[in-house]
Amino acid sequence: MERHPIELSEETLSLEREYIAKVYNSPDKPNSYYIVTYGCQMNVHDSETLSGILKEMGLKEADDREHAEFVIFNTCCVRENAERRALGNVTWLKELKKTNKALRVAICGCMMQEPGMGEQILKQYPFVDLAFGTHNLYHFPSLFYQMIHTNRRVVEVIQNDEGCVPEGLPINRSSSFQSFVTIMYGCNNFCSYCIVPAVRGRERSRSSMRILKEAETLYKNGVKEITLLGQNVNSYGHDRDDELSFPNLLHELDKIGIERIRFMTSHPKDLSDELIEVMASGKHICPSFHLPVQHGNDRILKSMNRHYTREQYLERVSALRKAIPNISLTTDIIVGYPGETEEEFQDTCSLVRTVRYDSAFTFIYSPRIGTRAALMDGQIASEVASRRIQELISIQKQITTETLKARIGQIHSVLVDGISKRSEKLMTGKNEYNISVNFPGTSEMIGSILPIKITEAKETTLRGELYEE
Ligand code: 5AD
Ligand code: SF4
Repeated sequence: MERHPIELSEETLSLEREYIAKVYNSPDKPNSYYIVTYGCQMNVHDSETLSGILKEMGLKEADDREHAEFVIFNTCCVRENAERRALGNVTWLKELKKTNKALRVAICGCMMQEPGMGEQILKQYPFVDLAFGTHNLYHFPSLFYQMIHTNRRVVEVIQNDEGCVPEGLPINRSSSFQSFVTIMYGCNNFCSYCIVPAVRGRERSRSSMRILKEAETLYKNGVKEITLLGQNVNSYGHDRDDELSFPNLLHELDKIGIERIRFMTSHPKDLSDELIEVMASGKHICPSFHLPVQHGNDRILKSMNRHYTREQYLERVSALRKAIPNISLTTDIIVGYPGETEEEFQDTCSLVRTVRYDSAFTFIYSPRIGTRAALMDGQIASEVASRRIQELISIQKQITTETLKARIGQIHSVLVDGISKRSEKLMTGKNEYNISVNFPGTSEMIGSILPIKITEAKETTLRGELYEE
């Protein structure tokens, strides 16, 4: 029998569309909205859907939260400080509500999927009008309608590992030339420190037909760059019978003609030779790869449930570099994992020196309730973890400086995405290696891909000038 994840049914979608129309016609709806987003690109993209729905309901996007009548927090719970920041900001709105009586506050996203969070919000945050989880996103129009018409607080969190694959909701894309395309939801990996599988559910791939159609439409609309999103893109299609594999999907997307294709995130254990071949032979796939290693020591990698050793990881890095010699590599690293000894931490440092990443996202381990690592002995004192992360950051900083310097003199293609924050005369954009490049230019260049000759390396960015043959 053919297996495929449950897609949002036409009936549900048309019901939600009816609610969009109902809100649109409600005279007492808020007139403006503001979305505060925490966390990863998945959340940024979910916020584009929320924004698309709110726009269709007739609300205008406010410039800041002080001037909005509806503020929604799209939260992240991957580390405790992301959570604390979100709750701090929600509490701050309590004061604003005293002077702005029309203000309504909502909270959604990963934090809401944590066990008991719905009840906690009801009890401790009485000024929150609406709360819903990641699996309820497609329900937002009807929940919003309930909020404005019942004058009761609305909390809905579906506890469902399976989730569904929402299709057909409006999306208000924040850029006309760069777009996110979700290819799969959820994660099956259960790394022992990570809360994501608990809050985002099991892997559900979108149908490749829909993904390709979406990409073709974006291409026709002039989009220059798409970023494919999934917690573990390498296992795309594994949950559906007769579906394309990730390398095949990439290959098909490459044929459309979109100038740049990026993707994230990849799990090293599933990085196949086939994917490397497709990347190397593809015309439009960017030579940059985000390959989270998390740690450099085998005992810790095993305890993390990562399913690869340091050696296997390094072998994948060599295979990537052999096939695509100029590739840029980035990673995620956790320090202070339970039981991490000084020696084991030094293994992470030596791995970083061996790989020489272009840049690395480094995190202090944060225990998450409901994960295996949170119950482990040997939780590391915060002073020790802070010292270790500082050491790691300074090693990587040195490497970043050196790798950036090595790119001086090269000609990169830069997708110009705006004016630099430093100077109005400088334009900024990302090169094919996903590194920011600033160069003198004018705002008419925004949205174009231009050849830029690299002249200088800054701490984390490059400086260049328009290259004219
Ligand atoms: N503590 C610290 N970092 C974490 N990450 C995931 N869970 C935790 C945690 N409990 C990091 C991993 C992952 C990135 C998105 O966040 O490095 O790759
Ligand atoms: Fe979390 Fe591991 Fe899944 Fe990434 S692969 S989302 S770190 S469980």
